[in-house]
Amino acid sequence: MKKIWGGRFRTAQDPFFEEFNASFPFDACLVEYEIQGTLAHARALARAGVLKPGEASRIARELRRLLQRTRKGPLPDGKRFEDVHAFVEHHLTEQLGDLGRKIHTGRSRNEQVALDLRLFVQHTAGQIQSEIRQAQRALVRLAENHQRALMPGYTHLQRAQPLLLAHYLLAYCEMLERDHGRLADCRKRTSVSPLGSGALAGTSFPVHRRAAAQDLGLRETSQNSLDAVSDRDFLVEFIFDLSLLMVHLSRWAEDFILFTTSEFGFLELSDAVSAGSSLMPQKKNPDALELIRGKCGRVTGSLVALLTLLKGIPFGYNKDLQEDKPPLLDAVRTTADCLNMMELVLKHTRVREDRMRQASSDGELMATDLAEELVRRGVPFRTAHEQVGKLVRRAREKNVPLRDLPSRELRAISPLLVRRMGRLLDPEASVARRNVPGGTAPAQVRRQLSRWKRRLRI
Ligand code: ARG
Repeated sequence: MKKIWGGRFRTAQDPFFEEFNASFPFDACLVEYEIQGTLAHARALARAGVLKPGEASRIARELRRLLQRTRKGPLPDGKRFEDVHAFVEHHLTEQLGDLGRKIHTGRSRNEQVALDLRLFVQHTAGQIQSEIRQAQRALVRLAENHQRALMPGYTHLQRAQPLLLAHYLLAYCEMLERDHGRLADCRKRTSVSPLGSGALAGTSFPVHRRAAAQDLGLRETSQNSLDAVSDRDFLVEFIFDLSLLMVHLSRWAEDFILFTTSEFGFLELSDAVSAGSSLMPQKKNPDALELIRGKCGRVTGSLVALLTLLKGIPFGYNKDLQEDKPPLLDAVRTTADCLNMMELVLKHTRVREDRMRQASSDGELMATDLAEELVRRGVPFRTAHEQVGKLVRRAREKNVPLRDLPSRELRAISPLLVRRMGRLLDPEASVARRNVPGGTAPAQVRRQLSRWKRRLRI
C-alpha cells in the first residue's frame, strides 16, 4: 500500500513491521469521528481561502458518501491501511485525485487522532450514561415491587440492624448517580477542539479555530498546540470513571452472589441468567454476577495500562500513544455489557421476602434499639451499651434467642427493659424508628422512591 508519507523513503517496510505499526484493525471504529473532523477541516480551509468553496463542497460530498458506506457495512481489508486517518485520506484521493491530495493541508494526524478520541468520548460517555439510567430504573422497579420487605443490614458481613430492601437497592442508585455525574464532568472537560494544532506547533494557515470547534459541537478550542497533541488526560479520566463504576457493579454483584447462596437464601435468579455444572447435577450458578465481578478487573487493568503508557512519554506526540486505543475500547465495551447485564439480572431476580424477614427478626439486630430505649429512659449511652451487651452475652451463654432470656436475668441486668422487650425486638418497629432524612424508615424510603421515579421518569 502506498504510504501518505513515502517521499523520503527508498525501500518498503518490512511486512512484519508494517503490521506491527498499523492501528487500522482497532481504530477503524473511529471512522465516523475521523470523517466529521475532516469535514470541519475542509470547511476551515475554505474559510481560510486555502480551498475554493466549490472544492470544499466536493470534498464534503465525498466524505458524506463515505460516511453512508461505512455505516452500511464493514470497512475494507484492514491490512491495506496504516490507520483510519490514512484510510479516509486515501479514499478522497482515490475519488477526487489532486483535490483529495489537498485535504491534509495544514493538519497532522497528531491533532486528528486527538480530535477523534475526544469526539469518541463525547459520544460513548453519553451512551454509558443512558445505560446507567437503565440499570437505575431496574433497581428502582425491584425496590418498588418490594416496598415493605425487610432485610438484615450488615457491617463486617455480620448482622447489624434491619433495613428495608428498597433502602438497600436505592443505595446502589446513589452510587450510580455519582458515576453518571462524573461522566458528565468528563464530557464537559473533553469538549475541546485541537484542530489547528498541526503536528505540534500550530498551523501556518489562517484557520478560524473557534468556527471549526462550533462545527463539531465542541465548547472550546485548545490553548496550547503542544499540549493538544499529546494530552490524553481525558482518556484517563474517562477510564477512571468507568473503573469506579465497575467497582460499584462488582460490589453489587458480590452482594447478590452472597444473597443467592443457600446460606442466605434471600434472592433467587431465574434460569435465564444462571448456568449449570457439567458434573454436579444440582448446581445453579450465578455466572452472570461472577462475570460482572471479574470484568471489573479488566477495566481497572485498562486504567493502569493507560497510566503506565503515559508516564514516560516525552512532550509532543509519540507513537506509544497509539496504544491508548485497545484498553479504551475494551473498557467501554466491557462496562456497557456489564450495565446491560445488571439490568437483565435485576429483571430476573426473585426476592424471598419470607427468608429475609425471618433473618431480620433475629433479636440481636435490635440490640441498638434496646440500648437507645434505655437512653430515652435516662441511662447514659455507654452504660446502656454495656447492659445490653451483657444481655446478649447471657442469651448466647444460655443458647437462647434474646427474646427468650428469662425475665429474672433481664431484671438483674437491665430492669427498665423488662416490660418493653417484645415491642423493642420487632424489626418493623426498628426500621420505623430510623425516621430521619436518608434513614431506612418506610416513610423516608417512600420519599426517596418517588424522588428517583421522578428523576428517572418512570
Ligand atoms: N495511528 C496513530 C495513533 O493512533 C495516529 C497518529 C499518527 N501520528 C504519527 N505522527 N505517526 O496514534
